Amino acid sequence: MPGGSLAGKTAIVTGSSKGIGYSIAEALARADANVVINARNGSEVQRAAERLDALGTGHVAAVPGDMRSYDDVRRMIEAAQDLGGLDILVNNAGVGGFAPIDQLSLEQWDNIIGTNLTGVFYACREAVPRMRQRGGGWIINIGSLAGKNPFAGGAAYNASKFGLLGFSEAMMLDVREHGIRVCCVMPGSVNTYFNDKDPSPENAWMIQPGDIARIVMDLLAFPENALPSRIEVRPTRPGRR
Ligand SMILES: NC(=O)c1ccc[n+]([C@@H]2O[C@H](COP(=O)([O-])OP(=O)(O)OC[C@H]3O[C@@H](n4cnc5c(N)ncnc54)[C@H](OP(=O)(O)O)[C@@H]3O)[C@@H](O)[C@H]2O)c1
Repeated sequence: MPGGSLAGKTAIVTGSSKGIGYSIAEALARADANVVINARNGSEVQRAAERLDALGTGHVAAVPGDMRSYDDVRRMIEAAQDLGGLDILVNNAGVGGFAPIDQLSLEQWDNIIGTNLTGVFYACREAVPRMRQRGGGWIINIGSLAGKNPFAGGAAYNASKFGLLGFSEAMMLDVREHGIRVCCVMPGSVNTYFNDKDPSPENAWMIQPGDIARIVMDLLAFPENALPSRIEVRPTRPGRR
């Protein structure tokens, strides 16, 4: 990863206390960007921010908050303003929850749609006017192959990620003329804590969180005239589950 190329830029990575979000935040910090770290668990956010702060010359701010709360999202955006102004928003926070429709609770539905879809709308609604004022920026939404491939038990998760893809691409058409580039990155299985699992060496066949961070960093380095707006990512060799 080239160091220093993002010096002076400010990024928010939602859901960055662990998993994919942490790896993205780590890559940004190593490239000397200022980074806002966010997740609901305040002590995990604090610990992650302390580890990442040592990696580069940028500032790393811990801003615990819930993407389902508009007030929390605004606090996160304001923290980025305090670090110099928002250049890069990575909407990564997301939750799973898989059950046939008659066993899906109202709370599960609200949590999945609220975090994976409505929370992204909240963050983009606050970010876009600020990026327009700055003359551009990047919004990278971490979607999923579940955003195009439905599966049994996936009604809520599929709905959230299909919705996110539609949201992302429609917004991209709204904002690209203002220099704001939007991409939806859609991974298959990634070796993280997702859905109450733990990352495991047995899952070496999966996409690793650092692979998604690499894609994000490559996007940020992409020539300005062209916009990769949707990226699908698969394990090269599908493993056994
Ligand atoms: N792992 C996969 O196989 C896979 C595949 C395709 C796409 N994805 C997507 O990748 C993204 C990251 O998932 P991951 O695999 O890295 O999961 P993870 O290891 O479980 O990490 C999820 C992160 O999001 C935070 N989070 C959850 N709900 C939140 C909320 N309401 N507000 C703020 N932060 C919240 C979590 O911390 P707290 O719990 O403390 O809030 C944690 O930091 C998600 O959007 C997921 O849908 C994952």
